[in-house]
Amino acid sequence: MPGDDDDIFQHGCDSLQATWIRNSILHASTNSQNIDLTAIPTNFVYSNPTVRMLAEMLAKLAEGGISKPQEISRRANVMEVMVKKYTHEFPQHMATTEAQKAQVVLVTGTTGALGSHILTHLLALPDISMVYALNRPPSNLRERQSHSFEKNGIDTHLVDSSKLRLLTGDLNAPRFDLSAQDFDTLRESVTLVVHNGWQVNFNVSLSTMEPLVAGTRQLIDFALASPHPSPPRLIFVSSAGVFRKMNESNTALESPISDPRISVGLGYTESKWVTERVLEIAAQMSVLSPVIVRPGQLSGASNGAWNASDWFPVLMRSSQLSGHLPIISGRISWIPIHHAAKALVEVRNSQERYLHINHPNPVPMEHILSPLSKILGIPLVPYAEWLEALEASASRESGASVDPAVRLIDFFRSYREVAPDQEAFFPAVLSNAVAVRSAPSLSLVSPLTAEDVEGWTSYLRQAGYLS
Ligand SMILES: NC(=O)c1ccc[n+]([C@@H]2O[C@H](COP(=O)([O-])OP(=O)(O)OC[C@H]3O[C@@H](n4cnc5c(N)ncnc54)[C@H](OP(=O)(O)O)[C@@H]3O)[C@@H](O)[C@H]2O)c1
Repeated sequence: MPGDDDDIFQHGCDSLQATWIRNSILHASTNSQNIDLTAIPTNFVYSNPTVRMLAEMLAKLAEGGISKPQEISRRANVMEVMVKKYTHEFPQHMATTEAQKAQVVLVTGTTGALGSHILTHLLALPDISMVYALNRPPSNLRERQSHSFEKNGIDTHLVDSSKLRLLTGDLNAPRFDLSAQDFDTLRESVTLVVHNGWQVNFNVSLSTMEPLVAGTRQLIDFALASPHPSPPRLIFVSSAGVFRKMNESNTALESPISDPRISVGLGYTESKWVTERVLEIAAQMSVLSPVIVRPGQLSGASNGAWNASDWFPVLMRSSQLSGHLPIISGRISWIPIHHAAKALVEVRNSQERYLHINHPNPVPMEHILSPLSKILGIPLVPYAEWLEALEASASRESGASVDPAVRLIDFFRSYREVAPDQEAFFPAVLSNAVAVRSAPSLSLVSPLTAEDVEGWTSYLRQAGYLS
């Protein structure tokens, strides 16, 4: 039974229960003269994931609510406090062995889409002698990895590569919950860490994601405990989402973001900002040399595989239900996920600290939406009209269980019309000059075409997600 300060999502609360809690609060507040029910957003429970936070937020709403700037400052402050918590006393690195010739990699989150592609590229490199793929439980890892390879169009035989060892563990547990022997082998042999595993969920709050920040701190300590002359480099897979509150007129540069307010808004982006800062401070206070890679939007793999929970597949499914697709302005620099993974592996020896992996040759959104409209056999309508249909689905009792876009409604509401040279659904132009210099394959990626759209839709149809 969770206490008043326990995060209910870390104790098994799911989206249905979150909706039930919110509906109960709305119901109980209906007769309140003081609480403006429209100020209780869809993600109210996710944003206030403890009993105490829910009670405090309701009390604030009864007192007249809190203004947007106040809320942004409050969240930015919580982010700064978390950075402080995870940047105390970095262990001192002590070299006790000679440099090791063989490259040995520890990579996290390989059961996911990007992780599977990263693993494939790592295994293909002759200068890498061993790859340890560390994933969270359950322990049927061989099966899960094989399934992810298959789903993502990767040869499933790779799971039996003599260079691969699959490990089930927990970054937050002592010795990552590995045997003392396995942990020591890792500590003594690893020359590169690729930290890719993350909860990709745009609903949960920063406090729910805190264990991921804590886990990254454990990885930093692990790297600094290496006996090699230099600790392993630590590549952190962040996200271009950290720029979510950036001003439209700006270019998002491959450099640190000192102001947390730029990343405020989603627990996901806030957790990435906090982790970037922890790594930046680790680099200042120790000999660790982290590399922070911020992928932009990743699109389907060569077999068309695209996580059905990602916003664009969700938009496709929702559009099939409503019978029309939205017209979206601007251009897109989405990069197919397998190309992003290749570039990410190519930058492993880069001396750069921040790199943005997105498509160097963006295309107008129209180049994607027109073929999609033909393939799905539904017309394009003004965005406002499409959103209106989504709002109508959201107001129905069956809402999110029928239309997956209801769960992302705040994201779809955030749409702004932009000029043709601006990124669609993104507040800035994402500069990638450093990444293009560091990853030779990036500039060779062909622009997205109708063929890619065909690949995504046929994959999602075969998976039963689109009809
Ligand atoms: N897809 C994009 O467009 C995009 C864009 C920018 C950045 N990224 C970043 O790329 C990385 C991989 O994303 P993806 O698209 O490949 O997502 P994905 O398919 O959902 O894979 C996520 C991986 O992280 C693991 N994971 C999830 N929650 C975890 C937790 N609480 N603790 C430990 N491991 C956890 C998953 O393990 P299970 O298999 O056990 O769930 C899986 O291996 C993430 O860091 C993400 O932030 C992705």
